Amino acid sequence: MKIVKWILLAAGTCCLMLSLASCSGAGPAPAVTPDESQTEANNLITVGFSQVGAESDWRMANTKSMKETFTEANGYKLILKDAQQSQEKQIEAIREFTAQKADYIVVAPVTEEGWDEALQEAKDAGIPVIIVDRMIKTSDDSLYTCWVGSDFRKEGETAVACMENAFGSDAELSIAHLQGSMGSSAQIGRTEGLQAGVSKNTGWNVTARDSGDFTQVKGKEVMERILKQYDRIDVLYCENDNMAFGAMEAMDEADRTYGVGGEITIVSFDATHAGLVATLEGKINYNVECNPLHGPRVEEIIRQLEAGNTPNKMAYVDETVFDAATITQGDIDARAY
Ligand code: AHR
Repeated sequence: MKIVKWILLAAGTCCLMLSLASCSGAGPAPAVTPDESQTEANNLITVGFSQVGAESDWRMANTKSMKETFTEANGYKLILKDAQQSQEKQIEAIREFTAQKADYIVVAPVTEEGWDEALQEAKDAGIPVIIVDRMIKTSDDSLYTCWVGSDFRKEGETAVACMENAFGSDAELSIAHLQGSMGSSAQIGRTEGLQAGVSKNTGWNVTARDSGDFTQVKGKEVMERILKQYDRIDVLYCENDNMAFGAMEAMDEADRTYGVGGEITIVSFDATHAGLVATLEGKINYNVECNPLHGPRVEEIIRQLEAGNTPNKMAYVDETVFDAATITQGDIDARAY
């Protein structure tokens, strides 16, 4: 039982502290034998984490949060696998964690579909699976223990509300839409939010739409194509900050103006540190927050499970939006990512 691990770990820590206390006195410190250090290593809770990749500032902040939380000092052994945006690699990682008999498997899924088989194998091995950040679609909800992440559809609706406030509902708008990785919850929810806005506001048209896969490089490439094709773009609805940075490079090179007082209004997502700096500078008009600091949230779930409690099956993170007209330096200073 994992609870035994916690007790052993706490007892081990006490013994260590006593040893250190006696060490501060006159005598030499008792040596830790290889057997004892082996026991301490065995007492760690093993967490296999399959991460999407390193495609964005958001993702790096998310990885950092997990690494800072699941440390040996906190009682964990973290096995982190970067899938480089490949679902195949993520499935491989889940299978490896299952074969290694990890205590918990944590997955930040690249797409929503296609997880049932690998998760069934983890379930058969009795390993709880925690889904984090994006969501999965499954025929059987018992294949994962719980999920914590963002309400991406709500993020899209928040962005649309900003556009409605800025332009009014009867405005004629030509919208360029840069999508994230296709099939990911972040893309699906934010796209659905925009679609609902377009259906409601009959003068709004999505003139151009393409995926930049949440990366700066592809964001730039897609925007270059769009700018060559269309003379009139009123709004760039960009599904993350990194693609917005790439799009800005493309607009700079094409001598097109953007942001506050510019030709193209930019609506972005994530509100990372760099994204908020661009918002304060007036380059991004509206930046909808997506919070990546999931390490402590996942740990809280594991603590509950270790204590024999049942965590909430689904938990949404509270998020806000930043407007170039009202953002302050204080908002940026308070940003942990
Ligand atoms: O799933 C969260 C999204 O993934 C973030 O918006 C994006 O930057 C990241 O790559």
